[in-house]
Amino acid sequence: MSDTTRIYLTGTCEGFDKLREALAQSPGIEIVGSSEHPSAGSAVLQGGHLDCVLHATSASTLPAHEIATIRDHTRVPLLLIASGEASSLLEDALGADVSDVLLLPALTENVVFAIRKATRAPRRTAAGVARKEGRIITVFSPKGGTGKTVIATNLAAVLSKAGDRRTLLLDLDLQFGDAAIMLGIEPEKTIFDFVNAPGELDPDKLAGYTTKHKSGLDILPAPLRPEDAELVTEAKLGRLIEVARATYDAIIVDTSPFFHGPMLATLDRTDELLLVCSLDVPTLKNVRLALGTLEMLSFPPARIRVVLNRANSKVGMKQREVEAALEVKVNYEVPSDRAVPLSVNKGAPAVLSDPGSDFARSIEAMAKAMFPKEEAKRAARLRPSFARAG
Ligand SMILES: Nc1ncnc2c1ncn2[C@@H]1O[C@H](COP(=O)(O)OP(=O)(O)OP(=O)(O)O)[C@@H](O)[C@H]1O
Ligand SMILES: [Mg+2]
Repeated sequence: MSDTTRIYLTGTCEGFDKLREALAQSPGIEIVGSSEHPSAGSAVLQGGHLDCVLHATSASTLPAHEIATIRDHTRVPLLLIASGEASSLLEDALGADVSDVLLLPALTENVVFAIRKATRAPRRTAAGVARKEGRIITVFSPKGGTGKTVIATNLAAVLSKAGDRRTLLLDLDLQFGDAAIMLGIEPEKTIFDFVNAPGELDPDKLAGYTTKHKSGLDILPAPLRPEDAELVTEAKLGRLIEVARATYDAIIVDTSPFFHGPMLATLDRTDELLLVCSLDVPTLKNVRLALGTLEMLSFPPARIRVVLNRANSKVGMKQREVEAALEVKVNYEVPSDRAVPLSVNKGAPAVLSDPGSDFARSIEAMAKAMFPKEEAKRAARLRPSFARAG
């Protein structure tokens, strides 16, 4: 992960323009964007993968409305910047959801220090306990039928198989999700029931709504009825992902081919985006457009991994042509394999039902590339017993 701190600036006050210029020159700080009113920056606030928001105010009281607007879009640390008389603001800010208040004029170094401090502090739960941070791996393609669900289900099954990683498969193809059926599971409870459950959404509650698969993974399936999809709001989804992150090592998110609100809320929290493409011209066109949208949303390119599904198909197009068209490298290749439709129809992921298949091996390799350190750790744990055996 890079050491650059990605910040977004909103609001205005005396000296804020000067501070912006100084921050733009500061190493380790990247200004992802700015807008005078927070609502004008909603897309970047949601999808920009920010580390921190600086909101400037010239009012002497707490800008509660602006803070609420920012909080509708993102949960990252928020620093208030003010100029002039601000004693009442400082008092009010004590009880507000802001990390710090900085009064201008201030030394740029002090502002950078405050940003670093706010973003480096370990995230804490409401109870004040530092929590574990699971990795959010989102499987997306702007085209239907490219293999998102097949890849998401098999990757989740591989990650949980050895019992080392607590893995959640989250089906965010909210209208027509079929992750559960591909795993042969008939769910009783879904994401719809979880987000609509009364009371606080916390890890204990999440455990009551997931279904365990025999591979060890937990699944939170899509709503049973398409019309229930819209009740899974961005705010609730954001909270769900935060809760899941505190409980699981890996959260694999299956998606639909759209950049809708829930997808933007997910992107904001995504550590790795598996962008699935295939060897056909319309899919390539849409993947190219999706890369443009991701750039517009300021999604960090370093978090994008291109997966070429059915990479070995003889359809008059080669991987290097895909790379030339997309201007990005293919990170993972997944072969076309009869084992896949066979396993889908059996409701058993190929990595379990046919682990020797080319498809299963490609998913194993993908998992290993994603979690290399853990693989090394596991190997180290096994080594002494091999030595004794030998
Ligand atoms: N590598 C592969 N080899 C053979 N068949 C494949 C492969 N990948 C996907 N398929 C087949 O393509 C079909 C569509 O795959 P999948 O449902 O995963 O796509 P999707 O992107 O999730 O589609 P949707 O957008 O409709 O959710 C599956 O039924 C599967 O059998
Ligand atoms: Mg699907």
